[in-house]
Amino acid sequence: MSIGKFIVIEGMEGAGKSSAITVIEKMLNEQGIEYINTREPGGTPLAEMLRDMVKSVSQEEKLTVETELLLMYASRSQLLANKILPALAAGKWVIGDRHDLSSRAYQGGGRGFDENTMNTIREITLKGFVPDLTLYLDIDPHIGLSRAKARGDLDRIELEQMDFFIRVHNKYRELAAQDESIITVDAAQSMAQVHQDIKNSVLAFITKMSLK
Ligand code: TMP
Repeated sequence: MSIGKFIVIEGMEGAGKSSAITVIEKMLNEQGIEYINTREPGGTPLAEMLRDMVKSVSQEEKLTVETELLLMYASRSQLLANKILPALAAGKWVIGDRHDLSSRAYQGGGRGFDENTMNTIREITLKGFVPDLTLYLDIDPHIGLSRAKARGDLDRIELEQMDFFIRVHNKYRELAAQDESIITVDAAQSMAQVHQDIKNSVLAFITKMSLK
């Protein structure tokens, strides 16, 4: 039995990650590929508690940026050990709603943690583990945030100022351009075109994997 593959969907709020995931699920179903879904932060009972801590707005106690960083990686560690690695070892594919690229963009770009700090904590947590394919849905933060606002209540991170999201966006683009396992999809296109681009990329990936 071959080891499963890890496909990650990344992007800022309002980029359309949820519908992109639905497109990928349909494709894997059509190909008869077994998969599980994960989300970050979260995805295990303990990691979901960490997700609540990270997302909830408290008037009582402000979350420091250091705590935020550590909680993201604590959640990722739980998810990797308890869900992602066992699924891959059992030959299942994993569709991840966010993974490490989010931390590098939000905590690295947005909060300003430097490369060395990010690399150290990544190495402790992931020990070199990387996704097989990442689809980064690129959206201008002004458009993405207005979509997210239209959806309803904003969480603690979504309440940040626009300059934070501009830094996150710049970092996403910078990192995506440096890594050939990250495919950038222009999420400002029509939904039909975005979905077509996703299908093309995933199909090319599945074909490449089956030829190996
Ligand atoms: P979402 O999954 O509903 O998009 O919410 C997750 C929020 O957490 C989103 O604002 C992005 C943020 N986030 C980080 O800041 N760092 C991370 O490593 C991850 C996974 C998410």
